[in-house]
Amino acid sequence: MNSEPPLARPTDTIKPLLRTLAGETLAVPPIWLMRQAGRYLPEYRRLRERATDFLGFCLSPELAAEATLQPVRRFGLDAAILFSDILVVPYALGRRVEFKEGEGPRLEPLRDRAATEALRTDTVASATALVAETIRRVRAVLDPTVALIGFAGSPWTVATYMVEGSGSRDFVHVKRLALAEADTFARLIDCLVEATIVYLVQQVAAGAEALQLFDSWAGVLSEAAFRRWVIEPTTRIVVELHRRCPGVPIIGFPRGGGLMLEAYLRETGVDALSLDTTVPVGWARDHLQCVRPVQGNLDPVTLLAGGPAMVQSVQAILDTLGNGPLVFNLGHGILPETPPEHVSALVDLVRRRRAAG
Ligand code: CP3
Repeated sequence: MNSEPPLARPTDTIKPLLRTLAGETLAVPPIWLMRQAGRYLPEYRRLRERATDFLGFCLSPELAAEATLQPVRRFGLDAAILFSDILVVPYALGRRVEFKEGEGPRLEPLRDRAATEALRTDTVASATALVAETIRRVRAVLDPTVALIGFAGSPWTVATYMVEGSGSRDFVHVKRLALAEADTFARLIDCLVEATIVYLVQQVAAGAEALQLFDSWAGVLSEAAFRRWVIEPTTRIVVELHRRCPGVPIIGFPRGGGLMLEAYLRETGVDALSLDTTVPVGWARDHLQCVRPVQGNLDPVTLLAGGPAMVQSVQAILDTLGNGPLVFNLGHGILPETPPEHVSALVDLVRRRRAAG
């Protein structure tokens, strides 16, 4: 991948997202939304009917490319995010992954040394080749001002699904494995680090211009565990991606990271930090945005509710974080009940800043 031409330097680009991620402060911040494709869009629900299972949908370049483009077309956002899922990586490692309607993901739980030792990373690139094809198709038709974001889950968050076998409330199995059989768990995390690097380098080679690491469950760990299972593996991924894909910015999203966010930002080397809804914006300006660009952090429920409360919240974010490098986004993904008109109203609000100067 070293032969890959390096991206245009961000200052040379007309893409607002890439300029912001390179540290520029724009009068109107770029905007995209986590989970901008999905069930809240009627055109997505129609498209989704064309595949029986969700993983098959993610691995169909035709359907996934169309799902990626739908929200960009409808709302004129500054970025497209690859339509896929973080659980494509366990699938690519040979694990069984299913999405049950209304129940979320189901995986065969991985809890012992033998199963962990049997994991192979040499199948990853071929298993995810169709995702690369989706990226090529999207890049071929994307407007020149719109950036394409690739993504993966972080090792810790993906490991929670692999060990628990589903979503979880208390994370007992995965935390116990990490504590009682740290060597076994470390081997799983090492596999995920390697697989994630292969997968993300492949995404960049296919045309992804920025990357986001989703660590949705970073916030459930103690300080020591956060350092070992979030900061340390993320650092290894970031160092290797920076070496192999110079110029491609990486956004970290350690959701719920709280008092560990500063250490995460300074130590992992991520190029920007995505803030969850609970992060106070004034604190983020003083402690995080002075280090790297930030992204966030409107409450998805505020978007769902819309109206004057949304106007006020958007203004508060723009007033506090808008004088530094900011990517406007939510603090977590769009909820399925969100009226699409609220998303149009949000984009208008953020863009209207231009008129106000
Ligand atoms: O942001 C985007 O528009 C890109 C697509 C995307 C999806 N999942 C599509 C999806 C991204 C970036 C993800 C990331 C993801 N997947 C995360 C990290 C972000 C987060 O939300 O915390 C996690 C934890 C997953 C795992 C996952 N996938 C769960 C728990 C579920 C079921 C619950 C749910 O929200 O429905 C999924 C399924 C999934 N992934 C859907 C979508 C659009 C819903 C299925 C459908 O609409 O057909």
